[in-house]
Amino acid sequence: MTRMLLATFDLMPGGEPEGHLLLEALQHRSIEASWAVWSDPSVDWAGADLVAVRSTWDYYRRPAAFLAWAREVEQRTRLLNGAEVMAWNADKAYLAQLPDLDVAAVPTLVVEDDALPAGLQQALERWGPSVVKPRTGAGGVGVVVAEQLHDPRLQELTAGPWVVQPLVASVRTTGESSVYVIGGEVAGQAAKQVGEAEAAAGEVRVHPLYGGRTGVVEIDPVRAGLAVQAVDAVARRFDTGVDYARVDLVHHDGAWVVSELELIEPSLYLDVMPTNAERFADVVAARLGERD
Ligand SMILES: Nc1ncnc2c1ncn2[C@@H]1O[C@H](COP(=O)(O)OP(=O)(O)O)[C@@H](O)[C@H]1O
Ligand SMILES: [Mg+2]
Repeated sequence: MTRMLLATFDLMPGGEPEGHLLLEALQHRSIEASWAVWSDPSVDWAGADLVAVRSTWDYYRRPAAFLAWAREVEQRTRLLNGAEVMAWNADKAYLAQLPDLDVAAVPTLVVEDDALPAGLQQALERWGPSVVKPRTGAGGVGVVVAEQLHDPRLQELTAGPWVVQPLVASVRTTGESSVYVIGGEVAGQAAKQVGEAEAAAGEVRVHPLYGGRTGVVEIDPVRAGLAVQAVDAVARRFDTGVDYARVDLVHHDGAWVVSELELIEPSLYLDVMPTNAERFADVVAARLGERD
């Protein structure tokens, strides 16, 4: 039987929510999978035929160690998506590069630690209300709305460097869309909404922790097309396959644009999209098949 390891983090050693669906889907394809904590030095990654990063949801707190781990694993066995793509994706500066890859994205300014006043001033003049967030971040941590340089909400900023974007107002009404592209195919679409009371109070984050909701919706061809285009562009840039991706999209200035590419540890939302486990297991089986 083929063995694979699904990487998770130390606060969730049993894997992502409903992760048993993933183990079962893999088992049906004769792949014996188990969860392992990425930062646990006793794990024998080389002993696995394949490793997939799943719920490593602390990576943004120690990105250098995480990326060093990914490179190391990749030297010893096969790693889905690959360490190079992960390193690129760990820095939201990639959003500023997407237009050069012909992918429409939320306009993004990269701001170094010592350049926040000038960068934010420029953003406010260009766009009006803006959002500042850490270049390496996840789960909405440190995402702050600012309408002026001395906006009190900037107290909530975490350490820089940052990216600054226009505040996409439609997040509070239309919400954010997530399209899963697994094995190059669109696997499903989810809608993420800011909670009503939270939106009225100025919240922009769609995460459940801040009152947001996630549900499955029908696949919209426009959003699906943009998501596939984004994933293909990354694959071309790195001359590699992108095995799985979640592409987040928002409606800005009259069009759907990419707000985030999740190529490291996107939650598969297995509680509401259990079929993602099947698609993920398919891509694992396909990659293992190529190896023989
Ligand atoms: N420019 C923006 N305008 C409006 N809302 C935003 C903007 N950037 C982020 N958000 C909100 O904050 C959330 C978290 O930001 P995101 O860029 O997705 O970072 P993370 O990696 O923490 O998920 C988004 O899901 C969205 O709800
Ligand atoms: Mg996000």
